[in-house]
Amino acid sequence: MINKNVEKIMNEQIVHELYSAYLYLAMSAYFESINLKGAAHWMRCQAQEEEIHAMLFYKHIVDRMGKVVLGKIDAPPASWKSPLEAFVEANKHEQKVTALINNIAKIAMQEADFASNTILQWFTNEQIEEEAQTDEIAQQLKLVGDNSSALLLLDQKLLTRIFTYPATLSAVVGGVAGGN
Ligand SMILES: [Fe+2]
Ligand SMILES: [Fe+2]
Repeated sequence: MINKNVEKIMNEQIVHELYSAYLYLAMSAYFESINLKGAAHWMRCQAQEEEIHAMLFYKHIVDRMGKVVLGKIDAPPASWKSPLEAFVEANKHEQKVTALINNIAKIAMQEADFASNTILQWFTNEQIEEEAQTDEIAQQLKLVGDNSSALLLLDQKLLTRIFTYPATLSAVVGGVAGGN
């Protein structure tokens, strides 16, 4: 059975992950509005990933005989000054999420809730990727500057992102979504 403090903070994390999905969907809509279809696609993939993150915590709470209690999701901003600003904000957001995951890991450790180790270790690794990816694109946008040709080239690259379920946890996600 899940520890009550861990259950509480994981329920809160479901809301943070769904807010992340909402934020990236808003960024996708922003990129659609400025006709950067590649960046819009990249952000849609990111939003899908965040939904899965929320569902991983959901499934973990259910599997351990806890109770999922959903909270309120805030509205994200609607637009950003530039593609660079959007990716810098995405990177800052991921740094905040990393701190939230670290805090859950700290509480799980304090409460000796060792059954949460596997999922929290996965999230710790995932956050390394999330920060690195958004930082890499932000750095590339800095190099692009106001060169439209370079921006369109980068946008084409972002269009090639393929969304995949996290391999090691696909069974878990499939169990939640009823998919395969
Ligand atoms: Fe996430
Ligand atoms: Fe990711």
